[in-house]
Amino acid sequence: MNETMIYHNPALLEESVNGLNIRPDGTYVDVTFGGGGHSRAIVGKLNDKGQLYGFDQDEDAEKNTFSTGKFTFVRSNFRYLASFLDWYGVSAIDGLLADLGVSSHHFDDETRGFSFRFDGYLDMRMNKRAGKTAAEILHSHSEENLATIFYVYGELRNSRAIAKAVVQARNTKKIRTTSDFLDILKPIFGREKEKKQLAQAFQALRIEVNGELDALKEMLEQAAQLLKKGGRLAVITYHSLEDRLVKNFFKTGNFEGEVKKDFYGNVQSPFRAINNKVIVPSEAEIERNPRSRSAKLRIVEKI
Ligand SMILES: C[S@@+](CC[C@H](N)C(=O)[O-])C[C@H]1O[C@@H](n2cnc3c(N)ncnc32)[C@H](O)[C@@H]1O
Repeated sequence: MNETMIYHNPALLEESVNGLNIRPDGTYVDVTFGGGGHSRAIVGKLNDKGQLYGFDQDEDAEKNTFSTGKFTFVRSNFRYLASFLDWYGVSAIDGLLADLGVSSHHFDDETRGFSFRFDGYLDMRMNKRAGKTAAEILHSHSEENLATIFYVYGELRNSRAIAKAVVQARNTKKIRTTSDFLDILKPIFGREKEKKQLAQAFQALRIEVNGELDALKEMLEQAAQLLKKGGRLAVITYHSLEDRLVKNFFKTGNFEGEVKKDFYGNVQSPFRAINNKVIVPSEAEIERNPRSRSAKLRIVEKI
């Protein structure tokens, strides 16, 4: 990767950080530290008593950390949020920010296998030390499982054809690189929508490799427990699957969106919405930072 490349350009920076309504002496968590853009803005609002814990499971993010007594970096999956905070003696927090998915760094580093713009090993693990790579998953999962991954996580109608082609290909040679995967996909996709469908297929595999939806659910449940009354949760999502989970959880306290009402017919939820309408980037932001175009921000307060 070109070292002068920007690690990540934070999306909805002001909207999300202002939405946390930061108390200068409060305890905050940025569960997706990445290039540290959001974290810097949060730390800028803290006084000497305030603390920010920044989580990232990718060791590359650690080089973006900054030294101040107000910040602690935790190199971990955010699904272990409560255990790590407990380790640091934190049992309650004033706010948490999650800016989900991968960073620009991941897409721009040709050695990580996240992008079909480069040829490289099909890895896709955010944490390079754990779990199966995308290439290993293409070899180890059953045809049925692969079809489900492409259908559910990629929302691809031709998921069965893709899974079948993967299985046929792996019976004759090793699927190792992004190009090997592209060779399988391209004959299945029509020319017109090829780029969009390739992005969907890569996204599906990435979600599976990193167990993204399960980690999100586990983190949100722990965050709801850790948040103090009046504390805020701000979450930025980039695709409909994660947005649906966040939307349901914020509205009802469960991921299915099952509405529970009290005796008087009021919806029971652990949260109060701060924005009734989802917040999206302005046209000016999208022009400045095209990768922000699918960002959706939701903010709630614990009641
Ligand atoms: C969109 S980027 C965040 C960018 C950051 N807000 C900034 O201003 O630079 C998402 C980051 O979260 C990390 N990440 C994604 N899922 C994670 C998880 N389950 N646990 C820990 N880190 C995760 C990725 O490694 C990536 O660095």
